Amino acid sequence: SAGFAAAGFAAFPLAGCKAQDASMLDSTDGSNLLAIPPLQRGEIEQGARVFRLSLTPGQKEFVTGVASPTIGIDAPYLGPTLEMRRGEWVQFHIDNKLAEGATVHWHGFELPAAADGGPHQLIRPGERWRPSFQVRQRASLYWYHSHLERGAGPQVYAGLAAPIYVRDDEEERLDLPSDYGVDDIPLIVQDRVIDGSGRLVYPLSMHARMMGVRGSRIFVNGTENAVFDAQTGQLRLRILNGSNARLYDFSLEGDRSMQLIASDGGLLDRSHIVRSVRLAPGERAQVIIDLSEGRPLRLLASSPENAMGMMGGRGMMGGGMMGRGDSGDASADVFQILDIRPASSAQRIRVPTQLASLAPTDPSSAVRTRRFVLDMGMMGGGMSINGAAMDMNVINERVPVGQWEIWEIANASMMAHPFHIHNVQFRVIDRDGRAPPPLETSLKDTVIVNPREQVRLLLRFEEHTDPDLPYMYHCHILEHEDAGMMGQFVVVKS
Ligand code: C2O
Ligand code: CU
Ligand code: CU
Repeated sequence: SAGFAAAGFAAFPLAGCKAQDASMLDSTDGSNLLAIPPLQRGEIEQGARVFRLSLTPGQKEFVTGVASPTIGIDAPYLGPTLEMRRGEWVQFHIDNKLAEGATVHWHGFELPAAADGGPHQLIRPGERWRPSFQVRQRASLYWYHSHLERGAGPQVYAGLAAPIYVRDDEEERLDLPSDYGVDDIPLIVQDRVIDGSGRLVYPLSMHARMMGVRGSRIFVNGTENAVFDAQTGQLRLRILNGSNARLYDFSLEGDRSMQLIASDGGLLDRSHIVRSVRLAPGERAQVIIDLSEGRPLRLLASSPENAMGMMGGRGMMGGGMMGRGDSGDASADVFQILDIRPASSAQRIRVPTQLASLAPTDPSSAVRTRRFVLDMGMMGGGMSINGAAMDMNVINERVPVGQWEIWEIANASMMAHPFHIHNVQFRVIDRDGRAPPPLETSLKDTVIVNPREQVRLLLRFEEHTDPDLPYMYHCHILEHEDAGMMGQFVVVKS
């Protein structure tokens, strides 16, 4: 049968099937208890943490009573949160029980290219893939997802994505909320298109090829209109924009403030009080919210772009310092994505303002500059980086190991692109010469590049690997990635 990655899966003849994960409708107002992905710690075997996972076809009711075909990892849709510690070795046994090839990429990790899970590490149906690597990343929220050649969009959309928690001593010393599912909550935010009959569809129209597939309904961990009953006076929310293409400004109803503590690759040097956090697909942020007043809180997500991908008003900064109500046409598009109900007696715990010690971002340490120009061509018909579309047989960049470089990412198009680089956590030097906002003051692996903007990154790859096996850099709007806004690099001995 045709795969999810083929022409789109709306044609699967599964309407009317009863889903196993009947949605957890718990009230008459249409709200649902927030699904929390199960936490999986794997098993320690011969000094390594071993995870056994299967990619499986599933069904999910996005609308009660109507099942849609999905893909999950040991689940009908999405998968377990994998927990690991910095410094340890992890090993995976990943069985592909799908009827199509797939890959599993460890987004945000520094690892050997053979373990990366990019388009070159195809797992055919019925095959098992066994990557292993040492966890070098700082404690943070990372994620794993499909990276199939020309097919990441439909597979992630169908559910092939889930969170990873890396823990470490540096973070544990701070005593931040870290009780999984209690006061430390992963939120995978995804928009989806549900057709008139209530089924999930992946409409790859001309418009969606250009803009990416964007839905008008928002799910958090697969739950729409989600409710979370807090038991503590504060919550740590780990937000992952797991959408294919939509950017969001996250905020609390009533303009309440949040404490921003971490970006993609770990803690900021200090916490920042913010009222809004902007995340593009692939980006993460962690915020602490205060429930000690006993008032319910609503997490909102609004779109900073209009239907044509234009940023409205002054919302061009990215990363969380802007106000709201200034985002042009899309400001009408405000979704209430999570209702947080406080505990009756909630204590406030103080979060330290000083969080981590980060090396200063020093561009003078760089020995060379590389430039990457992102473009879309006419009507999205020419997705490219430096004028070339992704070619599996072409290595675009050879980067010497261990040397600081500046990567200059220039956006020649009229819509924003989240630029992601594998095998590294980088620092943001500046945006058109301006200092980056708080979210971009720590380690990042994905960065928004606004229309006509140039963002400079400082980075260094730690280890050279197989000279013929490349890593990827690409736009994390998955339809752009699938259409070729991606390139390949190898890390070579200097
Ligand atoms: Cu999250 Cu190359 O992707
Ligand atoms: Cu990645
Ligand atoms: Cu893009």
